[in-house]
Amino acid sequence: MRVTKEQLFKLIKEKLMKAGLSEVSANHVSDVLVFADHRGIHSHGAVRVEYYAERIAKGGITVKPEYRLEKTGPASAIYHGDNGPGHEAALYAMEEAVAMAKENGVAIVGVKAISHSGALGYFVEKAAKEGMVAISVCQSDPMVVPFGGTEPYFGTNPIAFSCPTNDDRIITFDMATTVQAWGKILDARSKGKDIPDTWAVDANGMPTTNSRDVHALLPVAGAKGYGLMMMVDILSGALLGLPQGIHVTSMYQDMTQGRNLGQLHIVINPAFFTDPTMFKTQISTMLDGLKQQPAAPGYGEVYYPGERGKLRAEKYDKDGIEIPDDIYNYLISNDVHYDRYHGKNRFAE
Ligand code: NAI
Repeated sequence: MRVTKEQLFKLIKEKLMKAGLSEVSANHVSDVLVFADHRGIHSHGAVRVEYYAERIAKGGITVKPEYRLEKTGPASAIYHGDNGPGHEAALYAMEEAVAMAKENGVAIVGVKAISHSGALGYFVEKAAKEGMVAISVCQSDPMVVPFGGTEPYFGTNPIAFSCPTNDDRIITFDMATTVQAWGKILDARSKGKDIPDTWAVDANGMPTTNSRDVHALLPVAGAKGYGLMMMVDILSGALLGLPQGIHVTSMYQDMTQGRNLGQLHIVINPAFFTDPTMFKTQISTMLDGLKQQPAAPGYGEVYYPGERGKLRAEKYDKDGIEIPDDIYNYLISNDVHYDRYHGKNRFAE
């Protein structure tokens, strides 16, 4: 089914409000989910609404959160999320971080005790639109083996980075620290398909091509991705006094309790380090240079991070955003959720 951005936003917002979110919170969450689908990050768009609706309805997301900014230094703060919608708390925390960086040059704001916050590119892009350079990292539930291990220990712990230019381009590099997202395994399972042997391991820690045998995901680039996901976990977990690694709460097991997740925003104001106009011009020149690079066979052209999402958004603006029929049918239905997630195993199916 193809829908416009506006139609998708309205459908998601209505469903989240029906589950119990306030209109303000539903607006914020819907904006992040539509951002993801609009750029082709379908793993973090409308496909997640039913999960959020079930968690909201069962009390696992605070519907009237009491957010609180705790300034801990001139350039540091903790944003207490009260286990409210992670998308909203992370947005408010980023707005605070941008304001602090405009004033002080840099800001590090920890977002403490939140639910899942979706595609992190959303938050860093907000900062880049204000002329800032930003990094955001967050924890997620354990489903990845440590390099050389057999049991899941860390989450898919994503890293996002955004940087402005002196034109309408924004660099947004936004990745999970695994070879592939868990959603890709579920997708292969539902289609009865094999997966490449680089994505995941079986219960013995051996690479597997059978999507049904997957026991845990593999870090991207072996020991290097393992190091990165550990770094993310430390920055958004222990640094904020939150549970870490294997102790991070499961997305699915108990939908009645807040997840107590952490996220960390780092915002840098270029004006405190160099001439900000020169900086943005230099970044634009870099992107121009990259676009002139010869493409390797089969690649068509060289893209900068975030460019393919921008092109996808332009295409979707013309043709409509592609949403699977079952997701669309759920969104237009009167049902809040179908009790599919509470108490499920660690990766839900
Ligand atoms: P991906 O593999 O689709 O893309 C990763 C990065 O590579 C993107 O910045 C993209 O612009 C860039 N890229 C891809 N192809 C490119 C090309 N041909 N040339 C240049 N750059 C290219 O992303 P992934 O790892 O599947 O992550 C998807 C989303 O999942 C992200 O938004 C991430 O924040 C989110 N996520 C959220 C989690 C959470 O707990 N909140 C957990 C894990 C992921």
